[in-house]
Amino acid sequence: MAETPVAPAIAAPPQAQLAASNPPKLELKDLYISYTDRKGRTVQAVENVSLSVANKPGIGELAVFLGPSGCGKSTILKSVAGLMTPDSGEVLVDGAPVEGTGRDRGMVFQSYTSFAWRTVLKNVEYGLELQGIPAAERRKQAMAIIEKVGLKDFSDSLPKQLSGGMKQRVAIARTLVNKPRLILMDEPFGALDPQTRWGMQSLILDVLRTEDNTVLFVTHDVAEAVYLADVIFVLSHRPAKVLHRIEVPFFESREVAVKQSSEFKRVENHVLDLLHASNVQGNIRVGL
Ligand SMILES: Nc1ncnc2c1ncn2[C@@H]1O[C@H](COP(=O)(O)OP(=O)(O)OP(=O)(O)O)[C@@H](O)[C@H]1O
Ligand SMILES: [Mg+2]
Repeated sequence: MAETPVAPAIAAPPQAQLAASNPPKLELKDLYISYTDRKGRTVQAVENVSLSVANKPGIGELAVFLGPSGCGKSTILKSVAGLMTPDSGEVLVDGAPVEGTGRDRGMVFQSYTSFAWRTVLKNVEYGLELQGIPAAERRKQAMAIIEKVGLKDFSDSLPKQLSGGMKQRVAIARTLVNKPRLILMDEPFGALDPQTRWGMQSLILDVLRTEDNTVLFVTHDVAEAVYLADVIFVLSHRPAKVLHRIEVPFFESREVAVKQSSEFKRVENHVLDLLHASNVQGNIRVGL
């Protein structure tokens, strides 16, 4: 028997409807994460972290986590990847709780994570193999991504034949081929020399910023943060807490030269002032 409502349903206000239909890409709610060290002591890594990263269809969003060494940045990213379960609090991606790892979230680490015995093409195809995509289609999709990250002429090379920057391009391509809803990058350029790093920053702007991607990006470098980010979350010393949320203005251009502009310097100094005021030091640096 169908139920008859006793009272007419009350329509949600338009704003609430909008929020429900377009939840943030990522929401962390009152997150607490701890480890137990070898002596059995509790190490609190993340404390009371709440933040959200917008879902911006068509243009994407790049959020940077900036914080001192050991403060808990990787721990936060691991909880979003589903590699760690928080002690309490919630991790929501597109409004749904994260329950373990999944292809919808792709992680790029500081160290290069490719299969040494597979060519670039075979490395990038790997995720598609797991999905059971037929060989010809796999190759087509993988080659398109390889071209995008600038490795077209190296598709048959083995990782050991590549430079550090090229290896990291392979890692990015391996992630992108799965079309993740969220790309997690944990100091991806930390091991690269300055010049290679600049090239990789351009790759992020050209490839990741021009599409629908939402990226969480960890760095120690204030200039890199300001150059790449839409929004910067400044984290405290361990246990990580969010001290500041800084919206980065839309620079007219994101060419490398913008780093020398007065507008860029103004934002960079603003971030540095906040870091000083909050007594955040550690190995945070300004540019390379
Ligand atoms: N497996 C573990 N067991 C015990 N403590 C841990 C473990 N992993 C991390 N920690 C501690 O948790 C804290 C946060 O670690 P995390 O790796 O998240 O920091 P981080 O901000 O990414 O540091 P870095 O900038 O050096 O990469 C650190 O103090 C670290 O020593
Ligand atoms: Mg880390």
